[in-house]
Amino acid sequence: MNPTTNIAVRAARQAGSIVMRSFNRIDTLTIAEKKANDFVSEVDRASEQAIIETIRRSYPHHAILAEESGVHEGNEYQWIIDPLDGTTNYLHRFPQFSISIALQHRGQLVSAVVYDPTRDEMFTASRGNGALLNDRRLRVTEQKSLHGALIGTGIPYSDQQYMDAYLAMMKDIAVDTAGIRRPGSAALDFAYVAAGRIDGFWELGLNAWDFAAGALLVREAGGMVSDIRGGDRHMESGNVVAGGIRVHRELVKIIRPHVPDGMPY
Ligand code: IPD
Ligand code: CA
Ligand code: CA
Repeated sequence: MNPTTNIAVRAARQAGSIVMRSFNRIDTLTIAEKKANDFVSEVDRASEQAIIETIRRSYPHHAILAEESGVHEGNEYQWIIDPLDGTTNYLHRFPQFSISIALQHRGQLVSAVVYDPTRDEMFTASRGNGALLNDRRLRVTEQKSLHGALIGTGIPYSDQQYMDAYLAMMKDIAVDTAGIRRPGSAALDFAYVAAGRIDGFWELGLNAWDFAAGALLVREAGGMVSDIRGGDRHMESGNVVAGGIRVHRELVKIIRPHVPDGMPY
């Protein structure tokens, strides 16, 4: 494992133990609503602080973009951190959440870690070296079409501007596939695409920290990640489609006609 991925793994494990330590005392946590239906707890903040401290100890000059504390200026390397992805699940004791840490160099993803502390599953990738779950190499599925495919998604819950467009996409995907899942941690959804547990995934309105690590995992597992018209604007728009090559292509074909005018893609 390369040194930056190694540091990310160390940071994710520390964050994971902070997150799990408080999982049995959710009632006592201080929780705030950042915007409608978007919550943050002291655990998100403590996890983020631990991750940043670990990274800074080894790489004091790197830049950081972290969900709760924002931009920390630095050199041409930038860490992108979601200290607890799936906060709503966490606050409801629904055991599907993760820690997501990615490293970009001049805009190119080079290291990725998504950690599920409930199952002790560490998903890692480094550019050009493939993706792993713990020690096992990952590969997206070879599903040839949507028929029989299992697809993950995220249903809009805070910004509902594009709810109608989303539901139209969902309807057309639902009638063509074996099923749709909404697990609630986008970072893990991408990791599950990489691991072949779902055949594809789409969501609108994500932030870079939700899927930067996941995107590298999918690519390094042989899959495709794009914006909702098949292009490469997803890191800016947050509207993203992922999957094995054929499933990804089919999803884009269904989704594209439902992208309304004026919607960033
Ligand atoms: C959320 C989760 C969720 C996705 C949301 C994200 P958070 O992240 O990834 O699955 O549907 O769009 O905001 O807020 O729990 O870090
Ligand atoms: Ca998130
Ligand atoms: Ca988060």
